[in-house]
Amino acid sequence: MLIRHPDDIPSSEITPEGVYHNRRQFIGTAGALALGALLTPAAACGAAGVEGGDSQEDKVTDEEDATSYNNYYEFGTDKDEPIELAKNFKPKPWTVKVEGLVKTPRTYSFDDLVGKLDVQDRTYRMRCVEAWSMVIPWQGVQLRDVLNRIEPLPSAKFVEFTTLLDPARMPGQRTGALPWPYKEGLRLDEAMHPLTLLATGMYGKSLPNQNGAPLRLVVPWKYGFKGIKAIVKIRLTDTQPRTTWADVNPSEYGFFANVNPAVDHPRWSQASERRIGEFRRRATLPFNGYATQVASLYTGMDLRKFY
Ligand code: MTE
Repeated sequence: MLIRHPDDIPSSEITPEGVYHNRRQFIGTAGALALGALLTPAAACGAAGVEGGDSQEDKVTDEEDATSYNNYYEFGTDKDEPIELAKNFKPKPWTVKVEGLVKTPRTYSFDDLVGKLDVQDRTYRMRCVEAWSMVIPWQGVQLRDVLNRIEPLPSAKFVEFTTLLDPARMPGQRTGALPWPYKEGLRLDEAMHPLTLLATGMYGKSLPNQNGAPLRLVVPWKYGFKGIKAIVKIRLTDTQPRTTWADVNPSEYGFFANVNPAVDHPRWSQASERRIGEFRRRATLPFNGYATQVASLYTGMDLRKFY
C-alpha cells in the first residue's frame, strides 16, 4: 500500500480485452449447502464466468496464489508473511459486537450473526489498489441479509467495520505499521447492495486465516483495502466513518475507493492491472467490471473528488 509499487511493465504491453463474452451467469447456488461445506466451485474447471460482471474472459486464480500472496498487516507487511504468521491464529469461537443506530445493540456469536442465512457461492474479480488483481470463488452471506437481521434504525446512513484488536494474537499489531485496529466503512446503500458479501469461505473451504477468517468483507467493485478482515464490530452511524487507509494517507486513499481506471493513484496509473498468474497487463474496467450493477449508486457524484 504505502510502501510497495505495482510491478513496472511498460504500458506498450497492455493488451486490451479483445474478446468479450456475455457470461453474466451465476456460478451455482450454494444456498442448500452448509457454511464451509466442501463445494465444487468453478475453480475446478479453470475458466469461470464471473458473476455479476460486465463480462470479461476470466480464469479463477490458483488457490495457492490467493492464499499465499496477502495484504494483512496484522500479520506482517510482506505478502508472504500472513500465511506463516497467521497459521496458529484460532478464529473460533468468534463474536461480533453490533452497535450504534440499530434496533437492539448486542453481541452476536458467529452462528447467531450469519448462521441460517442463505450461503452464496460467488466468483468475483478482485482488484487491489496496487494494480494487481485476482478472481476468487467466495462463499459467504449477503451483507444485506445480516443488516436486515440486525435492523438498522431509519437514521442509519453508514456501516463501520472494525478488525479484532489483539496484539498477543496478531503480531503486526505490536508494530506501528498502521494505527490499530483496522477500520473500514460503507455507505448503507453500498452495504445493502446484493453484490456485497460477508465472506466466510473461499474455494469451497472455510476462510483461511491469512484471508481474514472467520469473517471478512468482500465488495468487488472497490479496491481491495475495503475488504476488511477478521471483523469483530459492526456499527451503524449517521455520519461517514473514518477508515484506516484514508486516515493514514488521505491524498492516496479515499472512503469510496471505487475501482476507476480514469483516476490514477498519485504514484501510479490505475488504467491497467496484472492478474496474478499472468504476465500481460489487462485494461482495468470501471467499477472493476460491475458498472452495470453499481454505477447508479453514484449518479451525480464527481468520482474524481469522491475517490
Ligand atoms: N484487513 C485488515 N484487517 N488488515 C489489512 O491489512 N488489507 C487489505 C484488505 N483487508 C487488510 C485488510 C488489503 S490492502 C487488501 S488488498 C485485501 O485485504 C487483501 O485480501 P486478500 O489477502 O484476501 O487478497
